[in-house]
Amino acid sequence: MGGPSPADVRARLLPWYDANRRDLPWRRTRNPYRILVAEYLLQRTRIKSGTPYYERFLKRFPTIRDLAAGPLDDVLAVWEGLGFYGRARNLHAAARVIVEEHRGRIPQSYDALTSLPGIGPYTAGAVASIAFGIRVPAVDGNVTRVIARVFRIREDVTTGTVRRRIAEIAARLVSEDRPGAFNQAMMELGATVCTPLAPACPKCPLERLCLARAAGEERDLPVSSRSRSAPVVPVVFGLVTADERVLVVRRPRGRLLGGLWALPGGERSGRSEKEDLKGSIRSQTGVEVRVGPRWTHVDRTFSHLKWSGSIYRCSPIRRPQETDSVRWIPREEVMRLPLVPFHRDAIKALAGIESFESTR
Ligand code: ADE
Repeated sequence: MGGPSPADVRARLLPWYDANRRDLPWRRTRNPYRILVAEYLLQRTRIKSGTPYYERFLKRFPTIRDLAAGPLDDVLAVWEGLGFYGRARNLHAAARVIVEEHRGRIPQSYDALTSLPGIGPYTAGAVASIAFGIRVPAVDGNVTRVIARVFRIREDVTTGTVRRRIAEIAARLVSEDRPGAFNQAMMELGATVCTPLAPACPKCPLERLCLARAAGEERDLPVSSRSRSAPVVPVVFGLVTADERVLVVRRPRGRLLGGLWALPGGERSGRSEKEDLKGSIRSQTGVEVRVGPRWTHVDRTFSHLKWSGSIYRCSPIRRPQETDSVRWIPREEVMRLPLVPFHRDAIKALAGIESFESTR
């Protein structure tokens, strides 16, 4: 494979990890369920933001059977604010499969893990190695960066060929006797030392092996064609209220904030905010509304785009009909649903005004 030998990498990395590893809640357990939850939760989430959710999640769902038995809305409610809600739905679905098809035991092989909903090569590798000591790699963004630098891979790491090459290198590097510790050490190095913009090379246990460092290219790697600037997408939502009730819709699965309850509206297509809003409320709920004043601005950044626009107060011309994905419910009850977080704030702010019913 060229580059430093796996034995050299392990010999430097593992002692560094043992001396420097952060004390994280999922590292204090050998319970496979707890490790599984951590790995779903940490897909695309930083440790600092994920940790409080992890603890709340396990308090609410201490075992896989509790999770499988819980309603999806309770799972989403604990996840609310963390983003990428598909992970929560997948984890819930996986718990049900594990209870129904594996007698409540987390499957102990890489292949069986990959067949669970929401588990790809990274999560399967992490759970198999950390919970079960199986010698497989777990390649996430941090590990990709470490390998691209140590092995001085100068091609675009987002392409299939280069990803496969990195996965092969990772597979050869993994320690035989401590695969879980090795994979976490690679993640830890990427998160704390071999960081994207300002790697702390003098503190790195792999500095002397690192080919990018030797070439003075550590800041130039990895090369990624993925654009950094997120497009701005105009949105508009309606806070439709009357008789102390609020109109909410379930966001479609597989879409941004999918599965959460939300104010009706969304991405705009036309030229006028108010006309777009009337049209999307009509198509999502069948309700005609009068659009009142602007309630608040929207400015939200997601991983790949920014939402910019407004929330308007609206009043329905007729009483809305409820369906599986449309609810017209009292304000206190709406607060118990898993809600798009900035929509929750918008609804909460209603409590601060005197006449909840007047929209003009
Ligand atoms: N990111 C994902 N899984 C992790 C783990 N087990 N330790 C640290 N960071 C992680």
